[in-house]
Amino acid sequence: MKINLKLKKTITDFNIYTKKYISSNRDKTILWDAINYGVVNGGKRIRPLLIIELSKLLKIKKSNYMRLALATEFIHAYSLIHDDLPGMDNDDLRRGKPTTHKKFGEAVAILAGNSLLTLAFELLADARTHANPRVRINLIDNLAKMSGSNGLAGGQSLDLFYEKKLVTEKDIFKMHNLKTAKLFEFCMLAPLILSDKNTPLKEKEYRKYGKNFGLIFQATDDLLDYEGTKSIMGKNTQKDSKKNKGSILKYKNSKEVKLYCKKLAASATIKTSSFSEPENIFNILIHNIIERIK
Ligand code: IPE
Ligand code: IPE
Ligand code: MG
Ligand code: MG
Repeated sequence: MKINLKLKKTITDFNIYTKKYISSNRDKTILWDAINYGVVNGGKRIRPLLIIELSKLLKIKKSNYMRLALATEFIHAYSLIHDDLPGMDNDDLRRGKPTTHKKFGEAVAILAGNSLLTLAFELLADARTHANPRVRINLIDNLAKMSGSNGLAGGQSLDLFYEKKLVTEKDIFKMHNLKTAKLFEFCMLAPLILSDKNTPLKEKEYRKYGKNFGLIFQATDDLLDYEGTKSIMGKNTQKDSKKNKGSILKYKNSKEVKLYCKKLAASATIKTSSFSEPENIFNILIHNIIERIK
């Protein structure tokens, strides 16, 4: 099967799993309508894709890794619902549709985000994720760190703090690393934890790939905000410059952003890494996200 077709199938499979999970846990409440809307309402599913592909490589059981993939996507979905709130980026369009707070109101959107954040940990705490509680606690500990005040939430706070401020390029890299790359690092670390066959060498290599992937992802997102269109992106564009955000474009022009991304991808797939072969799926994926800005 062609690689793109295979990836599409993996995403469809994940979407079916997500719908099933939500429909068997939901109540007939507006809160669950909003949770469902924030998750099922589109999305490229890049984080689950990394988790699923790495889990397959590590020969993890599907019933285990799908829960991990869903937990991570729940964190991502929560972060987007909150990111769009009036007190944060104040956006009314996401994935080509009204943002969750536009559709359900602010209070419900806040609670839907909170619920998704806690559902992620509920998924991981369950013995169906891994029989060994030590493995589950390790996953929970890492997800808490990567998504909390020294991770995604910390990065989001820097993002808001940097608005209209004089920030250095280093500040922007730090913010990108926290708000975006930490969750990608988790995507590459977590399957290794779940496999229970972690080695310091593998961990270093996988974490680096995840971090570089995340840095590329946010840099391309910044560039697409600048150069892209609403119809292609499914969200409003030119938002960063309007709000005077700490975007990477304050320090790099479009050509330099592309070069920066290529360098990050090359260093994550160097000869000595497990991802060095050009036909390796991780080599393909990290170069594919750069293609978004070609
Ligand atoms: C958007 O993430 C937010 C960033 C981290 C730049 P995605 O581009 O992965 O969002 P969806 O899930 O595909 O909508
Ligand atoms: C999205 O960041 C949220 C997180 C990274 C957690 P941005 O605000 O930069 O991205 P969009 O443009 O709203 O998707
Ligand atoms: Mg934001
Ligand atoms: Mg935003």
